[in-house]
Amino acid sequence: MPIEVEHLSYVYGERGPAPVVALDDVSLRIEDGQFVAVIGSTGSGKSTLIQHFNGLIRPQRGRVVVDGLDLSERRTRLIEVRRRVGLVMQYPENQLFEETVLAEVGFGPRNLGLPDEEVRARSERALLAVGVERTLWERSPFELSGGEMRRVAIASILAMEPRTLVLDEPTAGLDPRGRRQILERIRQLHRERRMTVVLVTHNMEDVARLAERVFVLHRGRLVASGTTREVYARHAELRAFGLAPPQVSQVLAGLRACGWDVRTDRITVEEARDEILRLWRGRRERA
Ligand SMILES: Nc1ncnc2c1ncn2[C@@H]1O[C@H](COP(=O)(O)OP(=O)(O)O)[C@@H](O)[C@H]1O
Ligand SMILES: [Mg+2]
Repeated sequence: MPIEVEHLSYVYGERGPAPVVALDDVSLRIEDGQFVAVIGSTGSGKSTLIQHFNGLIRPQRGRVVVDGLDLSERRTRLIEVRRRVGLVMQYPENQLFEETVLAEVGFGPRNLGLPDEEVRARSERALLAVGVERTLWERSPFELSGGEMRRVAIASILAMEPRTLVLDEPTAGLDPRGRRQILERIRQLHRERRMTVVLVTHNMEDVARLAERVFVLHRGRLVASGTTREVYARHAELRAFGLAPPQVSQVLAGLRACGWDVRTDRITVEEARDEILRLWRGRRERA
C-alpha cells in the first residue's frame, strides 16, 4: 500500500520565540514498488518530510497514511509503521553501538521478538544484500571503513525486512567508490525485491540514473513533481530552486543553443552519449 501525504505542514519550535516553518502544505503519494527521489537544497525540508514516513515525527497539521495506517492518529502503533518503513538517517554510522557487526544488525529483529534462528537468518541476508563480507561479521563495527560502517547501518534497517526503504543522503561523505557500491546495492534491492525506495539526495546525477519519479522541495513547499525526465526538463526552474541539472543535460542544452538538432531530455551519461553519436552519424552520412 502507498505512502500518502495530505496537506502536511510542520513548524519547529512552534510555540517558541523563533518558529521555523519546515514543511508548508505538502501533498504527495508514493506507490508501492516505486523508486522515488526527494531533492531540494539544504534546509528545503527533505529530512523533516521523510521522518514522517516512519513516525519519527508525527504530523502537526495534515495527514500521513502509510499502508493504511494513519500517523496523525495517536492510537496508531509506531511499531506497526516501523515494520513497514525502514528509515536510514543521515550519517547512520553515528548510531552504531553493538560489539559486533552481527549483533548490531540483529538488534532490530531481536526487538521485534523474533526467534534466534530468524534473527540470524535476517541479519545474514541483510549483510549479504549490502555486500558486507562474512570476514567482517564478528568484528567491531567501529573497526570498519567509513563505507563499510555505512553499509552495516543500512543492513541493520534492512534486517527488519521493511517493504519500504527510506534513505536520507545515504552517500554523504563517502568516496566515489563507496558511493557507487551503496547505490548499486540499493538499486538491486529495488529490482530484486520490488522494494519501494525513497532516496533523499542532492546529487542530480544519481537521481537521473536511479529514480523513476522526483519530488522537489523548496523552502518547505513541494514545487515540482513528476517523472524524472519531466522534472529535469525544467532547467530554469531547477536553477531557481538552487539545483543544477545533470551536467550531461547541460551539455546537450549547450549544443542545442549552438544550433545543433539534439534532444535535451536525455538525462544520463549513456543517453547523452547515444544522442551525440546519433547526431555525429547523421552528419557523416550527409557529408
Ligand atoms: N530540530 C530542528 N529544530 C529547529 N529547526 C530545524 C530542526 N531541524 C530542521 N530545522 C529547520 O527546518 C528547515 C528544514 O530542515 P530539514 O528538514 O533538515 O531540511 P533538509 O533535509 O532539506 O536540509 C530548515 O530551515 C532547518 O534549519
Ligand atoms: Mg536533511
